[in-house]
Parts: sequence; structure tokens; C-alpha cells
Amino acid sequence: MYVCVCKAVTDNQVVRAIDQGACTRRQLMQCTGAGGVCGKCTQSIKSLLDERVCRQRTMQQA
Ligand code: FES
Repeated sequence: MYVCVCKAVTDNQVVRAIDQGACTRRQLMQCTGAGGVCGKCTQSIKSLLDERVCRQRTMQQA
């Protein structure tokens, strides 16, 4: 599913960038381009980031 229509970035691309080390919206924008045009996808990207980073932290603690 596209999360950023302006840059045609999918949720899978965002998750992959997070898994490869991107941990801020700025880094995700630099990696994928998402969020750098109109900004309407900012909340979706933040939600993906929060969810994924939280999951990574939980897995590290287990
Ligand atoms: S939808 Fe992502 S910058 Fe416009």
C-alpha cells in the first residue's frame, strides 16, 4: 500500500528502511523520499516508525 503518493513510496519500503537503521522521519525522508513534498503522509510514516521501532525494542529485550 502506498503511504506517500507524492513519491510513490509503499509501507513495505518504509518498513525496510526502518529495519536497515532509519529511526527518524528525517532519515526516512532521506532514504525513501517519503514526506518531502506535501507532507500529508507524515502521520502515517510516524505511525509506522513508532510501531516498528517499538517492536524492535521489544524483541531486543526478549
Ligand atoms: S503524500 Fe507524502 S509527501 Fe505528499
